[in-house]
Amino acid sequence: NQEIGKVISENFRNIPDFPQPGIIFKDIAPLLSNPAIFKRITDAFVIALKDIDFDKIVILESRGFIFGTAIGLQMGKGLILIRKKGKLPGKVEQFSFDLEYGKDVFEIQSDALAKGEKVVIVDDILATGGTADAACRLVEKVGGVVQAVMFLYQIKDLKGEERLSKYKVINLHIE
Ligand code: PRP
Ligand code: MG
Repeated sequence: NQEIGKVISENFRNIPDFPQPGIIFKDIAPLLSNPAIFKRITDAFVIALKDIDFDKIVILESRGFIFGTAIGLQMGKGLILIRKKGKLPGKVEQFSFDLEYGKDVFEIQSDALAKGEKVVIVDDILATGGTADAACRLVEKVGGVVQAVMFLYQIKDLKGEERLSKYKVINLHIE
């Protein structure tokens, strides 16, 4: 586990002042362009989920789509999309939230989950937790039960895990 943390931290690239001054952007490009590393990360996620009872994986636009899709395929679990406003057809539930930089609105299709269906939410980075908190609320709004919220990388200083204290939080790496 310490080993996967090292692989992750060594393959994230810190880009200062992006997308705006004062923000250090965590760039996942180096760990996606190397298939051996991407596979190790996917395997580590799958191992971390082995004792969690769940039916579906909820993936968050945009970067959560990448890791969640790989995990779902490997575990034989269906995927549910949470998307940014205006992208999903039909009846949707909506939740607005603040980001480390700016604001966003997330949506889920109202019929995305059966009542009581158990899910794991997957995203790349846990920063302030605003994104993941919005996802948890949307899952619950459509009748789902959040069994775990899982990230590749947690930026501890931003206290996202405290914001998600109601939930089981899994991180492959904590900075
Ligand atoms: C980034 C990252 C997480 C979120 C974490 O997404 O991928 O989803 O921020 O921040 P938080 O814990 O403070 O909410 P971003 O909104 O930049 O969009 P993207 O995934 O579409 O690139
Ligand atoms: Mg994101």
